[in-house]
Formats: sequence, structure tokens, C-alpha cells
Amino acid sequence: MSRGADRSCCNFCCTFLFTSGLTALFLWLSLRASNPTCSIQQFDVHALNKTANATSNHTIYFDLKLDNKNKDKGIYYDALNLTFYYGTNKSQRIGNFTIKGFYQGHHKNTHRENNVTFDAVSVSGSVFRVDLETKVRFKIMGFKTKRHRIAVWAQVEVNDNGQKKKKKGIKLKSGAPEFQRYRARGLLFLVVFSSTLVLLSIL
Ligand SMILES: *[C@@H]1O[C@H](CO)[C@@H](O)[C@H](O)[C@H]1NC(C)=O
Ligand SMILES: *[C@@H]1O[C@H](CO)[C@@H](O)[C@H](O)[C@H]1NC(C)=O
Ligand SMILES: *[C@@H]1O[C@H](CO)[C@@H](O)[C@H](O)[C@H]1NC(C)=O
Ligand SMILES: *[C@@H]1O[C@H](CO)[C@@H](O)[C@H](O)[C@H]1NC(C)=O
Ligand SMILES: *[C@@H]1O[C@H](CO)[C@@H](O)[C@H](O)[C@H]1NC(C)=O
Ligand SMILES: *[C@@H]1O[C@H](CO)[C@@H](O)[C@H](O)[C@H]1NC(C)=O
Ligand SMILES: *[C@@H]1O[C@H](CO)[C@@H](O)[C@H](O)[C@H]1NC(C)=O
Repeated sequence: MSRGADRSCCNFCCTFLFTSGLTALFLWLSLRASNPTCSIQQFDVHALNKTANATSNHTIYFDLKLDNKNKDKGIYYDALNLTFYYGTNKSQRIGNFTIKGFYQGHHKNTHRENNVTFDAVSVSGSVFRVDLETKVRFKIMGFKTKRHRIAVWAQVEVNDNGQKKKKKGIKLKSGAPEFQRYRARGLLFLVVFSSTLVLLSIL
């Protein structure tokens, strides 16, 4: 083997390693999507409004904020199932509400509010639990990922006016890690295809 052939082989190897490294980095960065941030902005339990003296009014008003913080990934929401519980665990369900599915562009946030009439349970304490379950698909560079389940919840405490005690929004959380990777098969194919083209052009 001549020295020239040696050098071109080495060049090829270096380029190959560099290209695969870049491709891996690009893949890793572009396929990362974070779940939307869901938070309760307002929560009024009219039965607990001591000024109103309306203990028989079984209405909860809620304002839910859904925030897509991804820079360049849209989110397709399936129907969002909200369940309201009395207390801190799931032993006493008082009502549920379904929000219709929709598409949310990148870097957008939206509010969904409504009045839920809950089953007539006597409300004496002031702590509630709100659970949100849905499935989302991410839109990554025009491709849709598979459905990914989201199950988050929060505890909400209300004051003597029947209003959420905390001034700021209450974030709904799960036990799972915040960042997860989602695969868009079409995108994966595109990246593999184009890096193959790059390799072929080097050869
Ligand atoms: C509580 O009731 C009073 C009297 O009806 C009303 O003015 C007030 O807006 C209510 N508060 C909430 C948070 O609904
Ligand atoms: C609340 O309403 C009940 C009947 O609806 C009445 O008997 C009671 O006096 C009222 N209490 C106050 C503080 O207004
Ligand atoms: C319960 O309270 C809400 C808010 O004040 C009101 O819009 C609704 O009409 C009340 N419902 C009943 C049955 O009184
Ligand atoms: C749920 O919480 C209530 C008090 O709010 C408690 O009495 C009950 O035992 C709890 N149930 C479970 C399954 O932890
Ligand atoms: C909540 O949804 C379940 C079905 O998932 C239904 O059986 C139940 O009646 C609903 N409860 C209320 C209070 O809407
Ligand atoms: C919920 O009830 C409040 C008070 O009655 C009302 O102002 C508001 O428009 C209602 N919201 C919806 C989405 O029905
Ligand atoms: C939401 O509720 C509907 C109707 O009960 C059900 O078909 C769907 O699977 C639920 N979604 C999730 C993510 O649990």
C-alpha cells in the first residue's frame, strides 16, 4: 500500500467519525421535546366562599394554562381529561371535565376555563386534588411523533373566599423526568438518508 492511499484512508476515517458525530448530535438535539407545562391559574369553589353563603352551590370554576415551551415543536393534544378530587388522594372523586383536543404551535400558551358541577358531597375542608390525563404527539420538522401519555396532578388549597390560596399558578406535576426523547420515524429516516448521501459523496 502506498503512503498516499494510507493518508486518504485516514482522511476518510476522520471525516466519517466527524460526520457521524455531528449527525448523532443533531439527532439528539432535534428529537428532544419537552412536555407542555400545565398549571392551574384560577380555582374558585363557590360553596366555600363564606361571604356568599352558598353551600349548596356545587360549582368549581377553573382556569387551566397549557404552555408549549418548545422552540420549534408543535403539540397535538388528544382530549384532556380533568378529574377533581376532594382531599389529597384519589379516594373521593367529585367531578370530571373533558377538554377537546387541539393543536398548539411552538412557543404558544393557551387557557381553558370552565365551570364544573360536582357531585353533591359535603365540602368541609379546603384541599382539592386535580388530575390531568392526556396523550400528545409532537410535530417535529413536519413529522408527527407517536402518542405519548401525560399524567400530571396538583394539590390546590382554597381560602375563605373559596379562591385558590396561592397567588401564582400551581404547576401540575408527575413523577417522570421532564425531558424525554421522542422519535419521529420519518425524520429519523431523513437524517439517516441524508448522512448516507454525505458519506457517499465523500467516497
Ligand atoms: C364570594 O362571594 C361574594 C358575595 O357574593 C362575592 O362578591 C365574591 O366575588 C365571591 N368571591 C369569589 C372568589 O367568587
Ligand atoms: C346563610 O343562608 C342560610 C339559609 O340559606 C341562612 O339561614 C343563614 O342565616 C345565612 N348565613 C349568613 C351568614 O348569611
Ligand atoms: C353558583 O355560583 C356561580 C358563581 O357565582 C354562579 O354562576 C352559578 O349560577 C351558581 N349556581 C347556582 C345553582 O346557584
Ligand atoms: C385519603 O385521604 C383521607 C383524608 O383526606 C384519608 O382518610 C384516607 O384514608 C386516604 N385514603 C388513602 C387510600 O390513602
Ligand atoms: C367522570 O367520568 C366517568 C367516566 O370516565 C363517568 O363514569 C363519571 O360519571 C364522570 N363523573 C362526573 C362527575 O362527571
Ligand atoms: C363560569 O361561571 C362564571 C361565573 O358565573 C362566568 O362568569 C363564566 O363565564 C363561566 N365560564 C364558562 C366557560 O362557562
Ligand atoms: C380520556 O377519557 C376518555 C373517555 O373516558 C378515554 O377514552 C380516554 O382514553 C381518556 N384519555 C386518557 C389519556 O386517559
